[in-house]
Amino acid sequence: MSRRRSRHHRSQHADQDDPCHDVPVETLAQFQTVTAETAVQAARTWWDANAAAYQAEHADDLGSARFLWCPEGVDEADVHLLGDVDGADVLEVGAGAAQCSRWLVGTGARVLATDVSASMLAAAADLNARTGVVVPLVQADARMLPLPEECVDVVFTAFGALPFVADTQTVHREVARVLRPGGRWVFSVTHPMRWAFPDDPGLPGLTACHSYFDRRSYTETDAYGAVVYTEHHRTVGDLVSDVVGAGFVLDALVEPEWPDNLDRAWGGWGPVRGALLPGTLIVQAHLPG
Ligand SMILES: C[S@@+](CC[C@H](N)C(=O)[O-])C[C@H]1O[C@@H](n2cnc3c(N)ncnc32)[C@H](O)[C@@H]1O
Repeated sequence: MSRRRSRHHRSQHADQDDPCHDVPVETLAQFQTVTAETAVQAARTWWDANAAAYQAEHADDLGSARFLWCPEGVDEADVHLLGDVDGADVLEVGAGAAQCSRWLVGTGARVLATDVSASMLAAAADLNARTGVVVPLVQADARMLPLPEECVDVVFTAFGALPFVADTQTVHREVARVLRPGGRWVFSVTHPMRWAFPDDPGLPGLTACHSYFDRRSYTETDAYGAVVYTEHHRTVGDLVSDVVGAGFVLDALVEPEWPDNLDRAWGGWGPVRGALLPGTLIVQAHLPG
């Protein structure tokens, strides 16, 4: 997913001093600190420009009404990480074309899909029209949801928003604000361990070349110095602190294994690395009450 994959296109460019990368092409890739607003602006612009390509590249896996958590093929229809959502109010953040939400419609959930990118939501509207399964869509930054307090039972995202937000604690706190007491927050992200490795699904992706403890953001800057793409890292410890610090009780950290029968790569995910290293982390948490 590059979704999943975040950092999927990362290895095209690079910092000459960074052994994770090749030589720079059109943009400069490096690790640096960026402001939260720069990160969100870059995410919106990048996903607007790349929504169609992303949807086309992953159409076979994402489907039009399928809830896939990660490139390892974990499907909500099998794992039920959201629990029983029949009759529940469910919010998706970083929904992309809202394939997950569209699948949830068939479970009896009342779903709202949100994303910061207008182009992603246009792809979602197109799938709504083509499938006849209509998911309500709202353009929103996951850090500032246009919803009242305590109005939904479940919030989730599959690789949406979090990898592209510099101040991820803000997202966890915002999700806690809109959830009712006892509500559930489930999300998948690139496994934090991957930060130490090149974004390559093959053998080069097995040699650690960057500090797992470097919290500076991965950025790509254009020829004019403008930040055009960012991804952000939280260690497992940071992530647990962020979630618990927002008021959640942690229920599970799921580390999907690469299935024996899956032989294709997806961005930095694939069978070579999947046999040895985790690629995805799925976090399941709930609010007390
Ligand atoms: C890798 S795609 C995942 C989309 C979808 N969940 C899927 O599985 O195909 C990441 C999505 O996060 C969205 N996104 C990035 N930053 C965001 C933010 N601050 N708030 C909401 N969505 C954001 C992007 O627009 C994009 O649609």
